[in-house]
Amino acid sequence: MKDILFIDACVRPESRTRYLAEEVLRKLDGKVTRLDLYKEDLRPLDLDTLSRRNELSAAGNFEDPVFRYAKQFAAAEKIVMAAPYWDLSFPSILKVYMEHISVVGITFRYDENGIPRGLCSADSLIYLVTAGGPIYQNLGYEYVKAVCEVFYGISPIRCFSAEDLDVIGADTECILGEAVQKIREAVI
Ligand SMILES: Cc1cc2nc3c(=O)[nH]c(=O)nc-3n(C[C@H](O)[C@H](O)[C@H](O)COP(=O)(O)O)c2cc1C
Repeated sequence: MKDILFIDACVRPESRTRYLAEEVLRKLDGKVTRLDLYKEDLRPLDLDTLSRRNELSAAGNFEDPVFRYAKQFAAAEKIVMAAPYWDLSFPSILKVYMEHISVVGITFRYDENGIPRGLCSADSLIYLVTAGGPIYQNLGYEYVKAVCEVFYGISPIRCFSAEDLDVIGADTECILGEAVQKIREAVI
């Protein structure tokens, strides 16, 4: 039984992105921890929080709650992330979350040559995205993939998507059905 972390950056109760994520979660065998980012008290790292975090890190004290998201992310054995396509990327709350998990000594370290080395346990990350129109550039996914591969040592990173959902006359059921089918057929 794997520890699966579901990072939910979908604000709408009827979110179609979360709907796809639930399909992935049904397929996976493990204990799912759900992290609804909109229910967390997540704020951008301001000067106070960053200074405090730096002091604690320098003292090797990672017990403070400020490190809880980084520790949870590092410990997860599989990660599922759902984020709608907003402004070619993802909702800002996910970027705030990414700032909180970026902690040297928890999610990654620098080796003697200054190369980042991942400290995360996850064997893969599955990213879900849905878009109102076409996904021209999947910048949110590309960003998460780069950070996970370069810093956190998580690979593979995979994406399942559904596009054109807000286009007038779109058959949303059919579009989502095709995405669900791809998830069901995938080896994840
Ligand atoms: C703030 C905001 C920005 C958006 N930006 C884009 C965009 O750049 N391209 C696009 O195709 N759709 C865009 N959309 C539409 C959403 O991607 C689309 O409705 C998506 O399916 C919403 O996901 P959900 O059903 O999980 O909430 C945007 C929607 C919002 C609210």
